[in-house]
Amino acid sequence: MAFPLTRMRRLRRTGALRGLVRETQLDAGDFILPFFVTHGSDRREPIAAMPGVERLSIDHVVAAAGEAAALGIPAVMLFGIPDHKDDDGSGAWDDEGIVQLATRAIKRAHPDLLVIPDLCLCEYTSHGHCGVLRADGHVDNDASLELLARTAVSQARAGADVIAPSDMMDGRVGVLRGALDEAGFADLPILAYSAKFASAFYGPFREAAVSTPAFGDRRSYQMDPANGDEALREVALDVEEGADMVMVKPALPYLDVIRRVKEMTRLPVVAYNVSGEYAMVKAAAAAGHLDERATVLETLTAIRRAGADVIITYHASDAARWLQEAT
Ligand code: PBG
Repeated sequence: MAFPLTRMRRLRRTGALRGLVRETQLDAGDFILPFFVTHGSDRREPIAAMPGVERLSIDHVVAAAGEAAALGIPAVMLFGIPDHKDDDGSGAWDDEGIVQLATRAIKRAHPDLLVIPDLCLCEYTSHGHCGVLRADGHVDNDASLELLARTAVSQARAGADVIAPSDMMDGRVGVLRGALDEAGFADLPILAYSAKFASAFYGPFREAAVSTPAFGDRRSYQMDPANGDEALREVALDVEEGADMVMVKPALPYLDVIRRVKEMTRLPVVAYNVSGEYAMVKAAAAAGHLDERATVLETLTAIRRAGADVIITYHASDAARWLQEAT
């Protein structure tokens, strides 16, 4: 018998063979593209750490959302940059708030494009934390839930297609489900940021959204990067409370968590390829150290292979374009 009997290279010999046995396919239909929305008109402000991403006024967001849709991207996520902040983050549940206005404008122009506003208080609070503060400076879990519920209903009224809480308060999915049902939005799905880690990779986002905490950090509500079992408990609780989709965030340093979540639940698993992951690739590519296109497509493929059904990524439009060119 010839040696070796099994030759793995047989199926790698040509592009056609490799394509035939490829296990994971990237598809723009599984991407969600995030936007940072700001007041005013005809405004685009670059974000230093995130080349290619800008803070956009609503008119530009509507146009960019249309371009994303034309590339086959089915959904956009919205982060609001309000023109005023206060202790409670009241801009979050203002029916005329920046995200509500942007949601209405996008749905009017592109009714089939899914609009997913991020649901959190940190962009709207003067202190930059994801909930309201007690007198001792600690984030008050249960008092924050009430404000998150108001925000969810306001986003729903504005035409949001999915409600996506990213605050990491305990019990929020159940409370939001109840509030949405009561307000007549029983059909609106919840995408829970279930396993959201207290990550250094959010740095560029906080610059982009102007949401860096004024004091302290988010470790009393976001997860310790060292914990995997705890991520499964978070997911299980959100599923029990009524989540329709669950998220792991960030993506690349947490591929093991994505895999474990995928094996534990039959819900769609969403991974957030966050701002710091994007910034690293862009910086290395700009310096000539990495091939941007190859790196991005490999990264997104790896996140899908780990078990993510859907990927939120700032690379979505570029990746969609590269995938079109490849076929
Ligand atoms: C708000 C929120 C954050 C991100 C998404 N929603 C920042 C944070 O928790 O500090 C980060 C996204 C990114 O880095 O791309 N809670």
